[in-house]
Amino acid sequence: MHKDCERILLTEEQLRSRVTEIALDVDQRYAGKRPLVVGILKGSIIFYADFIRHLSCPVELDFMAVSSYGSGAVSSGKLRIRKDLDKDVKGRDVIVVEDIIDSGFTLANLKALLLERGASSVMIVTLLNKKARREYDIAPDYNGFDIEDEFVVGYGLDYAEQYRNLPYIGILKRSVYCK
Ligand code: IMP
Ligand code: MG
Repeated sequence: MHKDCERILLTEEQLRSRVTEIALDVDQRYAGKRPLVVGILKGSIIFYADFIRHLSCPVELDFMAVSSYGSGAVSSGKLRIRKDLDKDVKGRDVIVVEDIIDSGFTLANLKALLLERGASSVMIVTLLNKKARREYDIAPDYNGFDIEDEFVVGYGLDYAEQYRNLPYIGILKRSVYCK
């Protein structure tokens, strides 16, 4: 285990089996469709790569990078698009793949935006869900794991751009981010 982690929350095996389970379920729902699978950069990339490999329906891949304006825990209520989609979502069934829902700000705004742009449907698939932190009204259609209010890294998730390549999800030691 990485020295900056307090403990491993989700092992590679737990991740693999749950991601497979979710993906096979999603796949059944999209039989006969051609969804546009939108990954939210960068945190979702590893989950995304594992997820899509279990889909048998024809999929198109696209990516978006977003952040909230301003800083700190209180978001200013506006989503900033750092990298927009290449594809037009009008008339498309969109599957949004995210690493974690925290306050819900990102996904609440993103879902509204995609529907505003004319997507036929928007389904939210998140690997992790910190329910206790929810401030915005958004519920994932698929959720890998409900987790406590702790800062986690690995399997795509970062702290200051580090730890994304850890193959498991670990709880980051407080001493790393409370200096
Ligand atoms: P929200 O908009 O408040 O729901 O925040 C979601 C974003 O916050 C995620 O896409 C992550 O980038 C980040 N985030 C929230 N909690 C964690 C965590 O425990 N580890 C790493 N990133 C996190
Ligand atoms: Mg993120």
